[in-house]
Order: sequence, then structure tokens, then C-alpha cells
Amino acid sequence: MQNFFTPKSVAVIGASKNKKKIGHIIFKQIITKYKGKVYPINPKEEKILNKKCYPSVLKVRAKIDLAVIAVPAKAALNVIESCGKKKIRNIILVTSGFKEIGNHDLEKQLYNLLKKYKIKCVGPNCLGIFDAHSNLDTLFLPEEKLTRPNKGSISFISQSGALGSALVDLAAYEGYGFAKFISYGNATNLDESDYLEYLDKDPKTKVICLYIEGIKDGKRFIRTCKRIKKPIIVIKGGKTKKGSEATLSHTGSMAGAYNIYKGAFKQSNLIVADSLEQMFHIAKLFITCPKPKGDRVQVITNGGGYGIVTADGLELNNIPLAKLSNRTTKKLKKSLPEICTISNPMDLVGDADTKRYKLAIGTCLRDKNNDILLVILLPQTPLITKDVIKIFKKTKKPILLVMTGGKQTQQFKKVLEDHGLPVFDFPDHAVKALKKYLT
Ligand code: COA
Repeated sequence: MQNFFTPKSVAVIGASKNKKKIGHIIFKQIITKYKGKVYPINPKEEKILNKKCYPSVLKVRAKIDLAVIAVPAKAALNVIESCGKKKIRNIILVTSGFKEIGNHDLEKQLYNLLKKYKIKCVGPNCLGIFDAHSNLDTLFLPEEKLTRPNKGSISFISQSGALGSALVDLAAYEGYGFAKFISYGNATNLDESDYLEYLDKDPKTKVICLYIEGIKDGKRFIRTCKRIKKPIIVIKGGKTKKGSEATLSHTGSMAGAYNIYKGAFKQSNLIVADSLEQMFHIAKLFITCPKPKGDRVQVITNGGGYGIVTADGLELNNIPLAKLSNRTTKKLKKSLPEICTISNPMDLVGDADTKRYKLAIGTCLRDKNNDILLVILLPQTPLITKDVIKIFKKTKKPILLVMTGGKQTQQFKKVLEDHGLPVFDFPDHAVKALKKYLT
């Protein structure tokens, strides 16, 4: 599988001079960003973007580790035959027009051809791969339209290319760091289990997000997931009757009854996200938080209403609110102004400054009666300034932050996130992600 992510040489079959064509965008992207050797393949051209062009991979003398194919479906099998003869063992087949449109014969022929030449194929009907660490990028969505995330440790496997890439764009905007993104389409001979197995061994990946429409081999999937040590957060498309009808014409997947999937996910210890947004919220906790010893949460806030809403959320989600130890209560009663509520939620009130937060957080971190701190920081109040960052040092207990607000708050939030803190827009987001993280 490694040749899908760090090949020494790549052929782009269907590379084109025409800027509007997918083969052009993929080729341009790879030669601009990737360090390995890149060969454009097109029988009509001598040169593309100043690179010598070859009529077929068979005319390239050097070894080719990976072929990215963007020719129409009717030409794809011939192209793959030449890849087989050239001993290319990894291909990414972007092309649509197989079983997702009912073309089962062509998909079967493709399957047999891949088997004959022992070729591993990502796709067809996919975007392929984006590797933030090696910079291999086969997504045909230009960078001026879709921002790529920075290097990080989330890997995202998506059966849907468009859904996956839109989320990649948003994740990049929100500052999530990625290891790999894999859009795998129809999954003809590589499916979710193959990618999961690979990512489990990938040192750059810490947490795996997975969007699936249908699982090809359920038993293998459960076996694989049980072996995997890294957290897998899954979301399933096609949970309803109408949704599952749509998966057939999207990736040609049989969605099946959602209850069966839910059972399989439970057996496999997967974390099931309730929404696409939540999938990344949970991933954020795995990336940034140390493992808590228990589930007791202490809430600290500078807004009373926010404290109440958070306490409600915790109780409704069966997450226990911690009880302050007598020592902590005594110490804080002595050191904090009388107007503060020393309880859970702990209200530091609207004129809280960095010093007050430092005292409350530091004391609660030392209190053995809690395992997790949920800190609400409403930065609109006059005395909260960016120097509050200084108080969030590396701790053994997870600290989740909630910051709600417009432009200024979002900028402030970004600064804290750049320091590796998990910040959420709403208490509800933090609580629900925490619930999934703890299970
Ligand atoms: N070897 C090398 N190049 C070949 C070839 C072959 N055997 N056969 C054709 N080509 C060249 C063509 O000449 C063309 O280059 P040109 O612009 O210089 O003429 C290039 O490959 C592309 O072929 P073309 O016929 O122009 O196809 P296209 O670019 O319009 O469409 C696909 C090709 C793959 C993009 C299209 O069939 C497709 O599948 N689109 C949907 C992709 C998609 O949505 N995937 C799922 C994402 S989630």
C-alpha cells in the first residue's frame, strides 16, 4: 500500500494540455507539489507542461510505482492492461462509469483484470489520495478552490469523494491537521478494511475518520476493526430507505439495514458519530487530550447561563459532574472574590481575568475529585485577554474549552487551537463529543 502514498515514480495517464480537464489538473498538481518522478501519458502529445510525454506507460523505460488514471471508462481497461504489462502494481482509477451507473459487466472485467496482474486499485469513481506529509495529491479539485489541510495526525477514509473533499476543505479552514485523505469510490479490489489495516500501521496517523455507504465484506470488517488499536470514528451514509436507495447510484453500494451496521460497529468497538461535524469534534479530542482517569467533569465559566446549559448537557448525557473536594472549596473561597460561585458549575463571573481563571483551573487540576475540566471562556467580557493562553500548559487531565462568538472570538479561538487546545463553539458540541470520546 505504501506506493499509494510515497511512490518514487508516478504516471498520470490521460494527462492533458487542456486546463479544464481532470487529467491536466491532477498532472499539474503532482508535478508542482510532489518530489518523485512524474510521467505524463497521452498518445497525442509530445510535451505537457514542459515534461516529455509518453504515448503509453510501456514506452517509459524507468520503473513506475503508481499510475493515476483519468481516461474515460471505455479506454480504462486497455490502459490498465498496459499498466499490468509494465508491472505497475498500484493504480488510482479516478474514472466513473462502472457499477455505480449499473455497468456491472465493466466492473467485473475490471476486477478480473486487476486480479490477473495483481494490481491494487483505489477506485474506480474516486478522487484518490491526499497525503499531507508526502504531498502526493491526486484530488482533481484545484487548490484555489479547495484548501488542503496542514500536516497532522487525522486520517480520513471516505467512500464519497465530494463529501470527503468538502469536509477536507472545511477541516483545513478550521485548522485540523491531516495525515491522509483517501477517497475510494466503488472499492473494486481494495475496500475500507484494507485502508484501515494500512492506517493502523501508519506512524503519521493517530485517529481514523471513516465515511462509508456500504461494507463489502462485513465479517472481515469486524475482524479488522477489532484488531485495530487506533480510534476509528465512523459515520454511515444510507441509514434510511431513501438514503440507501441513493447509495446504489452513488458508489454502487448496498447500504443494508442500519440496525445491522450499528450492531457491527458496536461489536468492532467503533465510535459512531451522529453527524459529519461531530466526527471531527471527536477526532479533535483524540488528537489533543491526554486519556482521562475517569469521567467526572468540573465546569468553570465566566457566564452563569453557559454554566447551567453545560451542566444540563452533561447530566442529559449521563456524564457525572464532579464534586469539589473540601480543600479546593476552602482554598477557592479564600482566594476568589465573594461574588464567585465555588461549586460545579463554578462561576467566576463576568469580570473574571486571567489571574482568576489561573487560580480556578490550577486548583481544580490538583483536585482528585475530578478527571476532566470543561472551561467556558466567553472572551467578550472586558478583562479576558489573549494572555489567558499562558495558563493552559500541558496537563495530565483533559481540558476542553468552549468559546462562543463572532469574528473576534473566532480569531481568539484559533490562537488557542494553534496551542493544541480543543475549543468548541457550543457547550453542546463539547459535551456530545466528550460523551463519544469516553465510550
Ligand atoms: N492513454 C492516454 N491518454 C488517453 C488515452 C489513453 N489510452 N485515451 C484517451 N487519452 C487522453 C485523451 O486524449 C485526453 O487528452 P487530450 O485532452 O489531450 O485529448 C485525456 O486522456 C482525457 O480523455 P477525454 O476523452 O478528454 O476524457 P475527459 O477528460 O473528458 O474525461 C474522465 C475523463 C476520467 C475525467 C471522465 O471519464 C470521468 O470519469 N469523469 C468523472 C470523474 C469523477 O467524478 N470521479 C469520481 C470523483 S468522486
